[in-house]
Amino acid sequence: MKPRVLSGMQPSGRLHLGNLSGALSNWTKLQDTYEGYFFVADWHALSTNYAEPTQIKTLTREMVIDWLSAGLDPSKATIFIQSDLPDHAVLHVLLSMITPIPWLERIPTYKEQQTQLEDRDLSTYGFLGYPILQTADVLMYNADFVPVGIDQAPHVELTRAIARRFNSLYKPIFKEPQTLLTEVPKLPGTDGRKMSKSYNNAIYLSDSEETLREKLRTMVTDPARKRRTDPGDPDICPVFDLHKVYSDTPVIEQVNAECRTAKIGCIDCKRFLANALVTQLNPAWEKGRAIRKSPTMVDDVLQEGAKRARVTASATMQEVRDAIGI
Ligand code: TRP
Ligand code: SF4
Repeated sequence: MKPRVLSGMQPSGRLHLGNLSGALSNWTKLQDTYEGYFFVADWHALSTNYAEPTQIKTLTREMVIDWLSAGLDPSKATIFIQSDLPDHAVLHVLLSMITPIPWLERIPTYKEQQTQLEDRDLSTYGFLGYPILQTADVLMYNADFVPVGIDQAPHVELTRAIARRFNSLYKPIFKEPQTLLTEVPKLPGTDGRKMSKSYNNAIYLSDSEETLREKLRTMVTDPARKRRTDPGDPDICPVFDLHKVYSDTPVIEQVNAECRTAKIGCIDCKRFLANALVTQLNPAWEKGRAIRKSPTMVDDVLQEGAKRARVTASATMQEVRDAIGI
């Protein structure tokens, strides 16, 4: 039997190159060697967006389209939406009974997010309980590993603590899952800052080839290189950082040498990069087109995923009820 991995993502927008080289490339690798459960955490999105939930449903669907385009394969992994599995909420309630409030208050993201999103009132019960819901997501499927970025590690730590507490209070039915740290390469966006949806500097999987080329054409370069005849410094140029991720070695070496001597211009340099990206994104774009052509495909994948998830979830809930004796 393969060990099980489980991970979730909030439906916060379309996937960009940073997400693709981070979480998604990790998930698509893991689905071959592990039994994978991957789901859209739409209830988690409510914890910070409860006042404006209108986007969540659309974003959920778009995210699944991006996942499938990027190579997540429903014949290998179980792909579903959290809110299609009401048992997650039931387990959340039961786990909330045994979780001391200080355990939640001392998780770094709790205070950090409140400061970062100060336009929203996050003094809610649901926001405090966010990591319990995440714990329910993980324990429901008795996952061995939880692939997440470093920011989520405290949540997995809490999951382990709650599992221990449940096991010692009632009956040892839960495994303590381990964090599988995802390395997230730091990709620069078009303005040179870290690529991020909130900076408006991202290149998206769903961008057209034309949009992608245009975004690269206007991307910032070595600011000292004003004229074509000025030599540049690739070491401080965000375009070169992308070359290092997406271009072949000969191109990287050529750019590295010829930028410094002004033999190559930024326009050509960026065109090389665009070509490399187009080649690598083409299979995903093609899959995306195929998905959009078959209107029921996403629903079918999600229905089948929920059905499979339900089998495991029902079994866990039966064990949980027996363990508590209720
Ligand atoms: N909190 C995670 C994030 O924002 C998403 C998530 C929800 C998750 N439930 C999970 C991740 C369970 C791993 C396991 O990225
Ligand atoms: Fe950057 Fe390329 Fe221009 Fe050099 S040639 S400054 S690496 S965009």
